[in-house]
Amino acid sequence: MAIDVQTNETTVFVDENRMKQVFLNLLTNAIRYTPNQGKIYIRLFKEENALKIIVEDTGKGIEPEYLPYLFDRFYRTDEARTRYSGGTGLGLAIAKQYVVSHNGKIEVKSKVNHGTSFIVYLPYQNEIY
Ligand SMILES: Nc1ncnc2c1ncn2[C@@H]1O[C@H](COP(=O)(O)OP(=O)(O)OP(=O)(O)O)[C@@H](O)[C@H]1O
Ligand SMILES: [Mg+2]
Repeated sequence: MAIDVQTNETTVFVDENRMKQVFLNLLTNAIRYTPNQGKIYIRLFKEENALKIIVEDTGKGIEPEYLPYLFDRFYRTDEARTRYSGGTGLGLAIAKQYVVSHNGKIEVKSKVNHGTSFIVYLPYQNEIY
């Protein structure tokens, strides 16, 4: 695992516990769906008024037809469902809710047999909620 920090402005105001859950899930997924010898990167950038955090893996990727449903509750790809190990399919739905409640957004980019990136934007300036 490697961390790549491309900005000095890394402070955002968040609910610590909820944001921990977001990144715990993204990292657990990355580890779970990336074979041994794979790589996981966490990258930080400043993008306009938001901190952009990318969790990138070199895992098996996600078929494009699954991508629109990934943040739905209980959604797991066919392959993940037939696996012995794994979770309930709630992690990304919860992650999206928490990110959106911080006025941020979360996106996914993936290429089969190449890897997956989850991209989280968290605004620097935020309302107190
Ligand atoms: N990094 C990734 N690489 C490949 N597939 C992924 C990745 N992250 C998520 N997925 C796919 O998206 C599905 C949904 O992920 P999500 O985190 O919501 O659920 P889960 O990990 O299966 O269960 P839970 O998070 O509730 O323990 C996964 O089951 C898997 O099919
Ligand atoms: Mg998960």
